[in-house]
Amino acid sequence: MISKKITLLSGDGIGPEVSVEAEKLLKLIEKEFNYKFEIIKKDFGGCAIDKHGVPLPEDTLETCKKSDAVLLAAIGGPKYDNLPREKRPESGLLGLRAGLQAFANLRPAVVFDSLVDSSTIKKEVLAGTDIMVIRELTGGVYFGKPRGIEVRNGERVGFNNMIYSESEVVRIAKVAFEIARKRNKKVTSIDKANVLDVSQLWRDVVVEVSKSYSDVTLEHLYIDNAAMQLIKNPKQFDVILAENLFGDILSDEASMLTGSIGMLPSASLGDGTYPAIYEPVHGSAPDIAGKNLANPMAMMLSVAMMFKYSFNDEKVYDAINIAVKNVLDKGLRTKDIYQDGKMLLGTKEMGEALCKEFSVCKV
Ligand code: IPM
Ligand code: MG
Repeated sequence: MISKKITLLSGDGIGPEVSVEAEKLLKLIEKEFNYKFEIIKKDFGGCAIDKHGVPLPEDTLETCKKSDAVLLAAIGGPKYDNLPREKRPESGLLGLRAGLQAFANLRPAVVFDSLVDSSTIKKEVLAGTDIMVIRELTGGVYFGKPRGIEVRNGERVGFNNMIYSESEVVRIAKVAFEIARKRNKKVTSIDKANVLDVSQLWRDVVVEVSKSYSDVTLEHLYIDNAAMQLIKNPKQFDVILAENLFGDILSDEASMLTGSIGMLPSASLGDGTYPAIYEPVHGSAPDIAGKNLANPMAMMLSVAMMFKYSFNDEKVYDAINIAVKNVLDKGLRTKDIYQDGKMLLGTKEMGEALCKEFSVCKV
């Protein structure tokens, strides 16, 4: 029996609904793969603001630190938009990433064959696309100081600082090369080295790291060109390596290749000192919250990534991925990926269909 402690942060909006489905899947994994999970639920995001006045209570962060993995659904909502920045749910998310030193954000964008018609991009361009965006998550302009809004010469100025140290670039570049090694052996590093000093350092350091990975091809693209290439010919990419803000933007763009952001999982890994965070790329979608409309697949696939990257269990990872593929092949769809002739399911029904399929295809 393998025991694991998982902190579950259901958060806001559709977060609790998709978390319920993930919990069903975890129950099934316990039964069929001989695990025992201790699932500890904590307040995080808007619900934590409502109850404790802050998005990331101390107790939530401490509990996360003591667990084997953190599973996070989604946070935020219009209700919190006018709070001061440090009180917003988003600040809680940044605090969690920083607190767990989760510097490597893995965002796979895989186009499932049966969803190739769901994207706004032509299917010949898309078919077979399988990209891993690796986004630096605890540095760059998101965290750089000085930052602020102040009055200078009688007018307001706003400023942030895109700053990277060599060691920060080295550690994220290593993650990208290691992962590329197990995939199609190509890293495309994104920067704006024609304009930004911080990007020149990024590029120089990535080139230095690449010398230890002679089996992996390295290419560099400026962020603007990368945004264009991603739409023009997504199949040219294997691993995309980007700093925090560029990775934020490109991963949303990559998500649209797959048809729906409701399909995409992510993992945020550190150096092992603290547990990793697994979360769908989608947000809390307040407009559809509580309506049984959300797609639980990104959450289920995030659970899959937890098994691969935190529990070193590729069997469960594969079984969940196959279950998702089979359910799609059978024509089952939530609203975000619905097309004529397919069968429309709610969150709960899709969660159940996935669990059923998981039981069948686990071997
Ligand atoms: C993401 C989100 C977050 C980010 C926001 C909610 C702070 O867009 O996870 O991509 O910018 O990192
Ligand atoms: Mg984003």
